[in-house]
Order: sequence, then C-alpha cells, then structure tokens
Amino acid sequence: MNKIFADNILQGKVAFVTGGGTGITGGVARALAEAGAKIAIASRKIENLEPMKQLIESNGGECFAVAADVRDYAAIENAIARTVERFGKIDIVVNGAAGNFLCKAEELSSNGFGTVVDIDAKGTFNVCRAAFEELKKSKGQILNISATLHYLATPMQIHVSAAKAGVDAITRNLSVEWGGYGIRVNGIAPGPIEDTEGMKRLLPEPLKEKLTRRIPLQRFGRIKDIENAALFLTSDAASYINGVTLVVDGGQWLLGTSFS
Ligand code: COA
Ligand code: NAP
Repeated sequence: MNKIFADNILQGKVAFVTGGGTGITGGVARALAEAGAKIAIASRKIENLEPMKQLIESNGGECFAVAADVRDYAAIENAIARTVERFGKIDIVVNGAAGNFLCKAEELSSNGFGTVVDIDAKGTFNVCRAAFEELKKSKGQILNISATLHYLATPMQIHVSAAKAGVDAITRNLSVEWGGYGIRVNGIAPGPIEDTEGMKRLLPEPLKEKLTRRIPLQRFGRIKDIENAALFLTSDAASYINGVTLVVDGGQWLLGTSFS
C-alpha cells in the first residue's frame, strides 16, 4: 500500500499512551512510533505491554513500558515522571485505557457502573491532569479515545455511554481551558473495529454480518483506520483543530444500533 503520510512527521516528539499495549490504542502507539515519536505505554499489566514494546523496538523505535492503573492518581503521576526521566518531556498524551462489558441497566451493580466510569472518564482526567505541567511546557496535545454509544442510546451499555460522554466533556472543557497554553485537546470516536477486545465483548459473532449491513460503508473499521485518524490529529496538519471528537465509524452511528 502507498504511504499516506510523509516520513517522520512526529520526529522529536514524545507520546504517553494509556492502553497502548493492545488493540486500537496499541495500533496508535505503534503508528506514532513509526512516525518518529518516542513512546511510553502504560496499562495495568506489564505482560500486555511487553510485546508492544518489543514490536516498536524491533521496528527501530524507542519504547518505555510502565505498569499503572489510570484509576490510581499516584501511580499515573509516577508513570509520567518516569517517562520524563527517560525521554525528557511529553508532547502527546493518548488516553485509550478503557473497560467494557455488556450488561442490562437493571442488572448492573453500582460498582459495575462506577468501575467503567472510573477507568474511562476519571482515568482520562487523571492522566490529563498529571501530564498538565509537561504539556504546558511542550505546548503539547491530548487525544482521547471515545466511542459513539452515547450519541443515541445503546442498550446494555449505560455504563460505557455515561463514561464516554464524560470523556467527550473532558475533551471539550480542556480544549477551552488549556487552549491558552497552546495545548490542543481532541478525541476520536471509533465505530465497530474488527479484531479487537471491544468487539469480542460487544458483538456475538452471528450478529457481525447483520451489523455490517447497517454500516453505510458496508464494512467494519480496521485498527489502521484509527491509526490514520490519530496520525492526522497529532500532526501539524491539525494544528488549528481543537475540541473536536472525530467520528471514525463509516457512518454507523447515524443509523443507530437497532437491527430492525
Ligand atoms: N457484567 C456485569 N457486571 C460486571 C461484569 C459483567 N460482565 N464484569 C464486571 N462487572 C462488575 C463486577 O461484578 C463488579 O461489581 P460488584 O463489586 O458490584 O460485583 C464491578 O464490575 C468491578 O468488577 P472487577 O472485576 O472488580 O473490575 P476490574 O477493575 O478488575 O476490571 C473491568 C474492570 C470489569 C472493566 C474488566 O472487564 C476489564 O479489566 N476490562 C479491560 C479490558 C476491556 O474491557 N476491553 C474492552 C475495551 S472497549
Ligand atoms: P483493549 O485492547 O482491551 O484496550 C483497552 C486497554 O486498556 C488495554 O490495553 C488494557 O490493558 C487497558 N486498561 C484497562 N483498564 C485499565 C486501567 N484501569 N488502567 C490502565 N489501563 C487499563 O480494547 P479495544 O477494543 O482496542 O479498545 C481500545 C479503545 O477504543 C478503548 O478506549 C475503547 O473504549 C475504544 N473503542 C473501541 C471500539 C472497538 O470497536 N473495539 C469501539 C469504540 C471505542 P490492561 O488490561 O493491561 O490494563
């Protein structure tokens, strides 16, 4: 395939990526590294980070892997401090850490709801807040991985809908409050992306074909689709884009989730 972006568009940048060991955000971490950025990846389990670290390094990039739970502010502060110790600064923060499962609202416990809100929304705030001083110095930027579930209503997803609505609010509020420091804050809302943990959890295999027919572009998204959107938003091509959550879903949310 022809290259879409010029070489080394993120040369000299340092990115801190939560959830950067696996799935969609793992793809984003690898793509930012291929574009020249040095990468720190963080999530709870070091065994989810090591293979991505090795992949990035075997492609000639630099990667630092650090175990930290985004719900634990002190652990995130420590992960950010160690990234700065290692690479000297942070220019880009990507918030991809998230949790999801299907559950009817009437069966969901208060702790089940709160757990997902804590990981996705409070975790995103924690990382942005802990990285603020570094982003202020670098006139850096934040990219929050959201979803489209809350644009309409998605049954069995009340917890994630509330959490991602919170993420979008964080994107908009910080873009306004921190724009004056030269910090851009944007998001990406992926639609259904094939070969991911999220899709495994949300879509029983027999429904895949039915959903494909409900996607205007008639296909599932690929991790590469999100990587390309992330490269665009983190590059200088997007230097006047702030406070936007870019929907990358083939038009899916416009038709809703109903299969009827
Ligand atoms: N259905 C209903 N409730 C569930 C659930 C499910 N499938 N899975 C977890 N919960 C509830 C638990 O019962 C618990 O509530 P309770 O104390 O009232 O019983 C609460 O959620 C917390 O569960 P716990 O297993 O302690 O959370 P955790 O912090 O260890 O893990 C999760 C977080 C639940 C989000 C877990 O699924 C996870 O680690 N996910 C990461 C990977 C992922 O979701 N990827 C897809 C991203 S789109
Ligand atoms: P994934 O591979 O499971 O990614 C989630 C990541 O978050 C994992 O690397 C996990 O690593 C990390 N994580 C979970 N809880 C954490 C915590 N408390 N602290 C730190 N890290 C934590 O799933 P995915 O499907 O690729 O999803 C990636 C992102 O895209 C998520 O934000 C998701 O909401 C969003 N999204 C996905 C889809 C889709 O179709 N898949 C659609 C819309 C939006 P550890 O287990 O090591 O912590």
